[in-house]
Amino acid sequence: MKADNRLHFGVPILEVQLDDIKARQTEIRSALLQLRETEQGIQRSNQRGWHSQDDLFNRSEDIFRWLSQMIFELGGKLIRHAEKLPDDAEILLSSLWVNINEAGAWNAPHAHLPCEWSGALYIDVNENPPESQSGIHDGDILFFDPIPVGAPYRPATTVAYTPRVGTMFIFPSYLLHMVAPHFEEDPRISLAFNFRIGDNLKRFAR
Ligand SMILES: [Fe+2]
Repeated sequence: MKADNRLHFGVPILEVQLDDIKARQTEIRSALLQLRETEQGIQRSNQRGWHSQDDLFNRSEDIFRWLSQMIFELGGKLIRHAEKLPDDAEILLSSLWVNINEAGAWNAPHAHLPCEWSGALYIDVNENPPESQSGIHDGDILFFDPIPVGAPYRPATTVAYTPRVGTMFIFPSYLLHMVAPHFEEDPRISLAFNFRIGDNLKRFAR
């Protein structure tokens, strides 16, 4: 599998495209929409959107087990590569949740500390969204430069990525990001997750 490593601010943002998500999109989508009907959501960065509980890896349905296992294995592989860790380095998937954003919903700027690595996997997005302004499209994820001084010292303070169905991003948990609103009838559905590096958990008291 090919992974791109974008270094817009000198910060790694790893990107892979998972064809399996498109192949099982209908099944995943209906499981996640069903979850919203039956489970209590929680309030985090979500503005108007629905944020599930963050332990979806504990669910027993096949589709959640498959998603959890794939995110755990692939995320672990990418993080070990990025951190130059040995193959047996322990990486834990510490949280996994879904965001369902109906028209007008967005996610406020936030980071995922004290975790080490975080990510998102897109289940249902408009792959050709309208552009609003400054190269930002509806439903884009925006990352903020940790040293947000802009020109002439640094690149533009934010970079916007337009995800496709099956796009997975993995990035350091300290990296501030947000999700732009969209205005289509179809909800924007994405999974989000955090990883912990086992050695760090054993070494530090937090
Ligand atoms: Fe986030």
